[in-house]
Amino acid sequence: MLQSACCREGGKNVVLLEITGLGKTFGGKQVLRDISLDVEKGEIFAMMGPSGTGKTTLLRILNLLERADAGHIKLDGMVINGGQNNNRIAARQRISMVFQSSALFNDTVYNNVAYGLKVRGMDKHTIKSKVDQCLALVGLIGYENRKAKTLSGGEEQRIAFARAVVFEPDLLLLDEPTANLDPSNVVKIEEIIRTINRELNTTIIIATHHMNQVRRLADRVGMLLDGELIETGRVEDVFVKAADERTRAFIVGEMVY
Ligand SMILES: Nc1ncnc2c1ncn2[C@@H]1O[C@H](COP(=O)(O)OP(=O)(O)OP(=O)(O)O)[C@@H](O)[C@H]1O
Ligand SMILES: [Mg+2]
Repeated sequence: MLQSACCREGGKNVVLLEITGLGKTFGGKQVLRDISLDVEKGEIFAMMGPSGTGKTTLLRILNLLERADAGHIKLDGMVINGGQNNNRIAARQRISMVFQSSALFNDTVYNNVAYGLKVRGMDKHTIKSKVDQCLALVGLIGYENRKAKTLSGGEEQRIAFARAVVFEPDLLLLDEPTANLDPSNVVKIEEIIRTINRELNTTIIIATHHMNQVRRLADRVGMLLDGELIETGRVEDVFVKAADERTRAFIVGEMVY
């Protein structure tokens, strides 16, 4: 397994994201309960679990698209989900997300990737150099003037990654980013994820159903079941000997869902 860019200071792993007691209810149904988790700077953390278990909801709350009913989220020690608008705005500049389907704007590839920088008021030259860098990272140099709607599904998803990392977020949230892709595009996207982690030192949380993807990409993994984080651990430990019987059943495919 490739080493990720996990960051150590003074021999200790540094926590980027601290989640404490997070809960969420939709229409009387509790979909997340008492989630607590530390994610370290530079790691790739995989969130696995059956369909409907709360993975997307958790990522949307971390991306501040949805509000939690209970609990705290801290980014570098700062609470980002409280009443402090300034903290939310600051956090939005440091977190980005790639979804299962990327929904690019009906515009050129260049403008899709540049958008996040334009709204931040960056000058044209800096924008061009950052867009070039990101298109190189996803292997799509030369696509600048193509209309987004003319791209294949795999190319669209690669542009979605370029758009998400162009402003160098500290935390990248990935919600089943390869779910709609064929195997050769899955390989490409996984390589892009590793490159982002290693070269940009971006901390990544990825929600996925695919056990092999967890093994190929992640440093640590969490098992989310019915809205509860029942186990977390290093991938090599959880896959060899899960502490919770339900995690083991999920990994070996015995869990029906
Ligand atoms: N906006 C919403 N309103 C009502 N219920 C919702 C809403 N969003 C999610 N839910 C419910 O919350 C639960 C968790 O959904 P979520 O999409 O987070 O699961 P998931 O683990 O991402 O599933 P999948 O693997 O299928 O993507 C589901 O029961 C879902 O129906
Ligand atoms: Mg989901």
